[in-house]
Amino acid sequence: MILSGKDLASRLKENMRLYVKDLEEVTGTTPHLAVIIVGNNPASQSYVKGKSKACEEVGIRNTTITLPEDVTERELIQTISGLNLDPDVHGILVQLPLPAYIDEHRVMNCISSRKDVDGFHPANVDALYTSKYTGTIPCTPKGIIHLLRDANIDIAGKNAVVIGRSNIVGLPVAKLLLDENATVTICHSKTQNLKDITSKADILVVAIGKAKFVTEDMVKPGAVVIDVGVNRVDGKLVGDVDFNTVKDKASYITPVPGGVGPMTIECLLENTIYCFTLQYF
Ligand code: GUN
Repeated sequence: MILSGKDLASRLKENMRLYVKDLEEVTGTTPHLAVIIVGNNPASQSYVKGKSKACEEVGIRNTTITLPEDVTERELIQTISGLNLDPDVHGILVQLPLPAYIDEHRVMNCISSRKDVDGFHPANVDALYTSKYTGTIPCTPKGIIHLLRDANIDIAGKNAVVIGRSNIVGLPVAKLLLDENATVTICHSKTQNLKDITSKADILVVAIGKAKFVTEDMVKPGAVVIDVGVNRVDGKLVGDVDFNTVKDKASYITPVPGGVGPMTIECLLENTIYCFTLQYF
């Protein structure tokens, strides 16, 4: 079965549109997301356009601030500081990656935790890893849990294997799966006997950025396969999973495009509204 993030995101966005209207009536203000993009990386530009379009669909105001490729770290942080102080901005997102000479970690930490729609600020990271859930949760991991829950997939007690250990996806999705009482294994580039581990996974999450890396022989029959990869091959988007061979072995699989990606954007909207409510209620 195909787990369509596109369908779920569009259902959730319909409800969200009504919720944004209600919030407007109660507060007299419309949630506002500011997105900063540095330089003209075509992939980043395309992601930012997608985010902006999704905001418009649900009635969230959005402003894209484009800074030149050679912007200094100081100028970037000054821009963020202005947005932190602006009561008319409720969420801030700095599109990654940033140019190599900029300290990404330092920049992201400058975003107010209360406007941090990515869930990358130390206060939000703390809330996640201590299971307090009092902050924003990174969008892609949150979207994956929505997809599993919406399809009524049992997580508790299942073997969940995550390939990839990034701060954006691998680590936080492992933590969320653990909180759903899965038995979680995190694999990475130094993992030995990867296939032995993935073949025992009831739920397999792949987030490594290598086109068609997971093949049919690595997947347990009936597994739920979540493909986070977005790789461009010959002008086409391809996931980290070899979809055509794995789809017949898996019970559920997310396609690329149309799987995890739309849910990431949907959760960005959820996080923007969450940050808005922090400032109003
Ligand atoms: N670039 C790729 N993924 C992400 C993300 O989740 N957040 C931000 N800010 N930039 C990204």
